[in-house]
Amino acid sequence: MHFDIVVGSVLGASEYVAEALESVLSEKGHQSTVHFQPTIDALTAQSVLLVCTSTHGAGDYPENFETFAVEIAKQNLSEKHCIIVGLGDSSYDTYCGAAINIEKVLLDAGAKLMLKPLHIDVLHHPIPEETAAQWLASQDI
Ligand SMILES: Cc1cc2nc3c(=O)[nH]c(=O)nc-3n(C[C@H](O)[C@H](O)[C@H](O)COP(=O)(O)O)c2cc1C
Repeated sequence: MHFDIVVGSVLGASEYVAEALESVLSEKGHQSTVHFQPTIDALTAQSVLLVCTSTHGAGDYPENFETFAVEIAKQNLSEKHCIIVGLGDSSYDTYCGAAINIEKVLLDAGAKLMLKPLHIDVLHHPIPEETAAQWLASQDI
């Protein structure tokens, strides 16, 4: 399988997570493209869409992810399979708000979730890329 790993990040933590996920997918025999500045046009038609985004502001998307979120909502994603990995801090009321919002956007556009979304609480998991890698390694994909 080919994966498009789409990253929403302000401070870089989600970028490390995306790279760790890419490594695990590679070990599993899959190919991935990591999109640090995601655009709709850069996605591959047949790929699995793996969204890896933190939350900022008060439940907001990272700035580099905002346009992508608006554009993907306009697509017909009925053929698309997705995986969502969110980073957040549970001391915020809007814990993992961006991951929750993009899940709704993708499902409303017809996409199917390949796995139950992973929300990583950086308050309790200070090395989120390790948490993410262990999680993905244990999944049957
Ligand atoms: C200004 C600011 C606002 C944040 N707001 C939220 C929030 O609303 N909800 C949440 O779950 N995490 C929030 N966080 C925590 C970040 O999502 C968390 O630190 C994450 O690891 C950052 O990932 P990044 O480096 O990829 O941006 C916030 C962090 C900062 C610095």
